[in-house]
Amino acid sequence: MGGSMVSSRTNEALRAAAVAALTFVAANATALTTPSAPAVTPVLADVDSLRKIGAEVLATHEETNVGYAKLSQTQQEALSALNHEAGRCGGFEALPYSADLEPMSPVLTHVFGQLSERELKNRQFENSSQFMSMVEPKSEIQKAVDDVSEDNLRATVQFMSSYNDRTYNGASPNTAVDALKTRIEETVKNSPLGVTVEFVNHTGIRQKSIRARIEGSTRPNEIVVMGGHLDSINQSWMGDKRAPGADDNASGSSNILEALRIISQQARPERTIEFFWYAGEEGGLLGSAEIARTYKAEKKDVVAVLQLDMTLFPGDGEFTLGSMTDFTSAWLRSYVENINGIYTKARIVNDKCGYGCSDHASWNRQGYPAVMPFEATFNGMNHNLHTAKDVIDANSNFRHSAMFSKLAIAMALDLGNSTLREQ
Ligand code: BES
Ligand code: ZN
Repeated sequence: MGGSMVSSRTNEALRAAAVAALTFVAANATALTTPSAPAVTPVLADVDSLRKIGAEVLATHEETNVGYAKLSQTQQEALSALNHEAGRCGGFEALPYSADLEPMSPVLTHVFGQLSERELKNRQFENSSQFMSMVEPKSEIQKAVDDVSEDNLRATVQFMSSYNDRTYNGASPNTAVDALKTRIEETVKNSPLGVTVEFVNHTGIRQKSIRARIEGSTRPNEIVVMGGHLDSINQSWMGDKRAPGADDNASGSSNILEALRIISQQARPERTIEFFWYAGEEGGLLGSAEIARTYKAEKKDVVAVLQLDMTLFPGDGEFTLGSMTDFTSAWLRSYVENINGIYTKARIVNDKCGYGCSDHASWNRQGYPAVMPFEATFNGMNHNLHTAKDVIDANSNFRHSAMFSKLAIAMALDLGNSTLREQ
């Protein structure tokens, strides 16, 4: 259940999601398989945006102002255009179920129920005053944080962006992925902790995700997850079709690898720490959606999820980070602010994507607490993303990017040795 979210531009992803959906709600497949039926996609989107494009809102989740509608291709394009005007890229989530999902269906009730649960937890947290005081400074954590190397980050971004592309559905979706796995293995080969590094295969796509795991000493079933997507995409209509994806998202990938390098040289944490490089994010969070869904089905106890996607462009100034407040946990955001107050001292500005813009949304959708610190506010982000121009250039700032590895390390070492969790 649950499922991947897809943006308007990713028809192939829509189809992949639809295929998964057909196995789930096989009886409702008519609109997708009958050629005469108009192709409509069941989506969740902001109610006001849906009304603006004249779509019929079939159900509304009042607390979040999220509406359910079935959109034609034309309506999807209108919604996309509207969101683009507002500086938003995607703008809605397609539900990976058949187009015949009824407003009162149990599936929709379940999806709205999950939204309510997250909203309730966030409100409860915001109404309580457990804010500061979650974290006590520890000198060994500060030492680990100070060990982050900008040169390592630059080398990894250089390495990943030197491939023609890392497109999940391209001619060779795993060339860069195979090389990245080798690089990860090299990085941890001298670790005393015995780090396991493995591919995660996916059902709908050929590209593989990668997972590295440090088993916890006393509470191995409690897991702290950190990750970023390894794939890239070029969405230009013409011209150079390379997709170097230096900022989006070799940067976040390099932050996770540098965090792993340093954490793998520390004392074994009490909780398990898992590091992910997700496949197919650009096709609609495809890799992470499958992973989060599997973790939920296996009842894995994921205590926190940190998502790093674009960390290299200091669009609102060096050391000013955005923190996305949608599809994330208020508790975990506050926890990260605590960590930042002690170890990194960046300026954190709250903002929203307005839609499930990266892999944190996959985990959030399964009810796990997620957080997404970002290179800038939404408007301040790097506008070279998804083009051949997303390369290391004069604007790339590895001092800024290093902040994100530092946050990841402090979070893993503090939360990994604590019993703190969202209530
Ligand atoms: N890194 C981008 C998105 C992003 C933009 C995150 C601004 C945070 C702020 C990500 O890789 C991406 O392109 N996401 C898609 C959505 C996805 C569901 C296909 C997008 O924004 O259109
Ligand atoms: Zn990205």
